[in-house]
Amino acid sequence: MRTHYCGVLNRTHLDQTVTVTGWAHRRRDHGGVIFIDLRDREGLLQVVFDPDRAETFHVAEEVRSEFVLRISGKIRLRPEGTHNTQLATGEIELLAHEIEVLNTSATPPFQIDDENLSENIRLTYRYLDLRRPVMQANMRLRYRVSKSLRDFLDSQGFMEIETPMLTRSTPEGARDYLVPSRVHAGHFYALPQSPQLFKQLLMVSGFDRYFQITKCFRDEDLRADRQPEFTQVDIETSFMNEDQIMDLTETMIRQLFSQVMNVELPQPFPRMSYAEAMHRYGSDKPDLRISLELVDLTDLMKTVEFKVFRSAADMNGGRVVALKLPGGAGQSRKDIDDLTEFVKIYGAKGLAWIKVNDANQLNESGLQSPVVKFLPEAVLGEILSRTGAGNGDLIFFGADKEKIVNDAMGALRLRVGKPEGAWRPLWVVDFPMFEYNEDEKRWDALHHPFTAPKVGHEALLGSDPGRAISRAYDMVLNGWEVGGGSVRIHQQAIQDIVFRALGISETQAREKFGFLLDALQFGAPPHGGLAFGLDRLVALMSGSESIRDVIAFPKTQRANDLMVQAPNHVDEKQLRELHIRLRQTEVAKP
Ligand code: AMO
Ligand code: AMP
Repeated sequence: MRTHYCGVLNRTHLDQTVTVTGWAHRRRDHGGVIFIDLRDREGLLQVVFDPDRAETFHVAEEVRSEFVLRISGKIRLRPEGTHNTQLATGEIELLAHEIEVLNTSATPPFQIDDENLSENIRLTYRYLDLRRPVMQANMRLRYRVSKSLRDFLDSQGFMEIETPMLTRSTPEGARDYLVPSRVHAGHFYALPQSPQLFKQLLMVSGFDRYFQITKCFRDEDLRADRQPEFTQVDIETSFMNEDQIMDLTETMIRQLFSQVMNVELPQPFPRMSYAEAMHRYGSDKPDLRISLELVDLTDLMKTVEFKVFRSAADMNGGRVVALKLPGGAGQSRKDIDDLTEFVKIYGAKGLAWIKVNDANQLNESGLQSPVVKFLPEAVLGEILSRTGAGNGDLIFFGADKEKIVNDAMGALRLRVGKPEGAWRPLWVVDFPMFEYNEDEKRWDALHHPFTAPKVGHEALLGSDPGRAISRAYDMVLNGWEVGGGSVRIHQQAIQDIVFRALGISETQAREKFGFLLDALQFGAPPHGGLAFGLDRLVALMSGSESIRDVIAFPKTQRANDLMVQAPNHVDEKQLRELHIRLRQTEVAKP
């Protein structure tokens, strides 16, 4: 139907006769001449209709937004002074000889180049939203990213193997999406939260190097970086230790950025322990583009009388930190009040602060603050020295249980800090095996229950579970966890100990993971791997704020697909076949 894509035409095509197809992006009537910007997946082309060709001109007059057109004509230079440097085709235009309307369009609910659309409108008419050049670019980038990763893994001898979607509950710790069985009344499949167990079994089967680009399903609270179904680049290898797995996957990501973005990432990526990340940044996925760091004052505050700080410092598992905002003394009362409200989202009870007006006067004349009157001069001097604060700086304080302080002050750091530089990858390593769940009064796996303990930490699993370190690692990029994995337990005896530490009885373990425990008995090789969140990687690379912008048909924060209107009610007949009766109170109105 066509000779060229619109967006690829340029000076080199001058005087050629071409045929293009596409959508009418914009039409402008300019006193006797009509301009149509024709759009296809490669870009925009300006087409000119001259009244000299009466028949063609009259058809052009009837064209409306998003009509589908086929136009033939001659490429010519735009007149001097009308070049558009924003457009790849900006030096030329197509003088139309013939036009054919291949299809008309109803008036679209929005202009395709409107930048200020509500997300609900965009998602309801996603097929139109995807016509927008940014969305076309995002989807193309996504394809190039998965192609680059796939090519790399292929070149390293990895083989893609599919694993089931209808399976049973897997251990990533979110709620499952369940699928009722028609054949087995009252039984349910679960959609996989990841291929974790299957890929381990593939190692037992001897495939040695597996990967898969696949959907995972998790029913959890959604955010900008979380979807109920998302895509993992899932990897598993046998006979490699954590350093080798990290080296290999780091090389893959470096090559990806080099090929697709023309960006050279550092070699090697820096590594930081979980403990250090929490200590310095209050987060296990620190954004290293922001230079601000938390400064620990816990020991110092054990010496003061000011109750807010002292009680946190004395508390078992309490923490007091400072965060210096250089030049922050200019913040208004209202700014600080807003930030105080902000940290409360994370459970903080307040946000103490000191504005350093004159660092030589360690009292209320030099230091403006609601708390200075409660702190002795020596302590104030020590705060300034530890934070390195000088005139014009602002110091914030967090005092509470460690988790609250880390969450609140870590979030405050991201909120007030300015990112510098483009790409700051790192590995976070030496995660604890377990995390204490205050609500349920038990230990939970920080990664998942198949993660191996660090060599020498086996005994701690039973005696002091909180101190056992695992062989897990996360790749973090600009404050996003883009991938995570671990070396796995390949011996049944250790797997048993870990289940016991997690409070999973032998019977429960057999019932849930019997097939894995069995498999470990039949010569399971040492193995490990990791999974990258493809959506997150592409969102970062495209500069999108949400992973929704790099998924063709995503769901809203409330897990709805607004276009197809899912989830939805189903017929009584379908429910009956599935042996399901809805509880009265929960029956959705059609
Ligand atoms: P994990 O649960 O850390 O590990 O997931 C791996 C990566 O997947 C991405 N991710 C998500 N992306 C979008 N929406 C979500 N809801 C979501 N949840 C996770 C993140 C994360 O780093 N089986 C293990 C991997 C392994 O041990 O090999 C696993 O699934 O980028
Ligand atoms: P108060 O004694 O409650 O009036 O608090 C004095 C100052 O300390 C105020 O600026 C509070 O915002 C701040 N503050 C109170 N609780 C905390 C806390 N847990 N961590 C940090 N600052 C706090």
